[in-house]
Amino acid sequence: MPNVLILYASTHGQTAKVAARIAKALADDGVTAEVLDVHAGAEISLAGYDAAIVGASIHAGHHQREIVDWAKRNATDLSLIPTAFFSLSLTAAEDTDETLLVTRKYVDDFIDETGWSPSRTATFAGALQYREYDFLTRLLMRLVMRRGGHPTDSSHDYDYTDWDAVERFGHDCAGMIARPPVGSS
Ligand SMILES: Cc1cc2nc3c(=O)[nH]c(=O)nc-3n(C[C@H](O)[C@H](O)[C@H](O)COP(=O)(O)O)c2cc1C
Repeated sequence: MPNVLILYASTHGQTAKVAARIAKALADDGVTAEVLDVHAGAEISLAGYDAAIVGASIHAGHHQREIVDWAKRNATDLSLIPTAFFSLSLTAAEDTDETLLVTRKYVDDFIDETGWSPSRTATFAGALQYREYDFLTRLLMRLVMRRGGHPTDSSHDYDYTDWDAVERFGHDCAGMIARPPVGSS
């Protein structure tokens, strides 16, 4: 039975939910995974894991520093096992040529910065979690959303994640882990 790490960074909780849904899709396919928060404290090592799935979200144009640094430190070990990376952002909720390019660039920047080329990547629309934000973040997000013609009623959260796509990605990862790509150990 492969031992899989799902490591994530989540500022307001949506990436954590996506990580949990991917773990469930893996479990449905008979693959158990350990889901860990990169902010949890102790340094997380890949020793003992046969595959890794890493997730993060975009804030002010960047993935969380801690996950970028972790991937950078572990790029060599990551290159030896089947791996996947998923990224959450609000640009991924829009389907224009411009937003598709920006969403793709977030992932390309992550790969460039960390030196790790995951076997699979996915981008998912995140959520507007007004009720999770502190006063200033809520104000900022309402201003940004108003400018883009998006919801500004901060008494609600808005979930844009395509959960079916998340599950499909989880099943795809399970297949990759069960049948590692040629060349990986
Ligand atoms: C302060 C703040 C800044 C954000 N900046 C961006 C951004 O630059 N580009 C983008 O596409 N999404 C941006 N988002 C949207 C987040 O990526 C989205 O809300 C995601 O679901 C957050 O996931 P998390 O709850 O796991 O942190 C931002 C969200 C917040 C709260």
